[in-house]
Amino acid sequence: MSGSTRCLIAGNWKMNGMLQESLSFVNDMRENPAPEAVEVALMPPYTLLHALSKPFEDKGIRIGSQSMYFETSGAFTGSISPLMLRDAGCHYVILGHSERRDIMGEGNVILRKKLDAAWHAGLEPMFCIGEHLEEREAGTTNDVLKEQLSVLEGTDVNAPLTVAYEPVWAIGTGKTATPEQVSATHAFVHQELARLGRQCRVLYGGSVNPGNAESLMACEGVDGALVGGASLKADTFMEIIAAAARVAA
Ligand code: 13P
Repeated sequence: MSGSTRCLIAGNWKMNGMLQESLSFVNDMRENPAPEAVEVALMPPYTLLHALSKPFEDKGIRIGSQSMYFETSGAFTGSISPLMLRDAGCHYVILGHSERRDIMGEGNVILRKKLDAAWHAGLEPMFCIGEHLEEREAGTTNDVLKEQLSVLEGTDVNAPLTVAYEPVWAIGTGKTATPEQVSATHAFVHQELARLGRQCRVLYGGSVNPGNAESLMACEGVDGALVGGASLKADTFMEIIAAAARVAA
């Protein structure tokens, strides 16, 4: 953990979640054991945002979206705007997730438009970066991350931002980066952010679960976690929050 800032445990439900089960999830969530040290956020699918924002808020959980379009309104069939997300109670929006980059073809140009639009609407982007397995094996991880972070060049350094380092090979695979890989990569990301004039939280994501959360959160430069599969059940998600609270204590 990097010290002064509150760490963040965020859950990305991806394309999962129906209304009834998500309301049960909220009921099952116990109180955050260390709200002064650990912030909690969840990113359900768009269809649940309005229904969940108040119940989550009552539990001290911030809500966010998994994506958005960069225009404010208009003839963009099927798209959701940053203002709609604010209207639905969102604080965060995930941008640059590897599934959006790889499956939907989102690259730096569109991501910069989305970042600017998110800031303009008062959202805090959770900007995801990460290398593929071939890139790690070829020793080009830092080059890839640097190129992904270059989108931030020339942006307002005071605009709110959280970065999430998610090695693509660790997402949904059960393979986690080792503490050494995590510490070294987070050090590089913080250094690169500093070069861009920014100091912000850098979360780790990729197969985080109750069994590995504590050792990952204890790594130097890790300011929280972006959790996929293990955030779908309230009990496993709460165990990860508890692990972060132990590390922060
Ligand atoms: P998993 O925790 O399921 O590996 O997903 C990580 C992720 O992509 C979060 O955004």
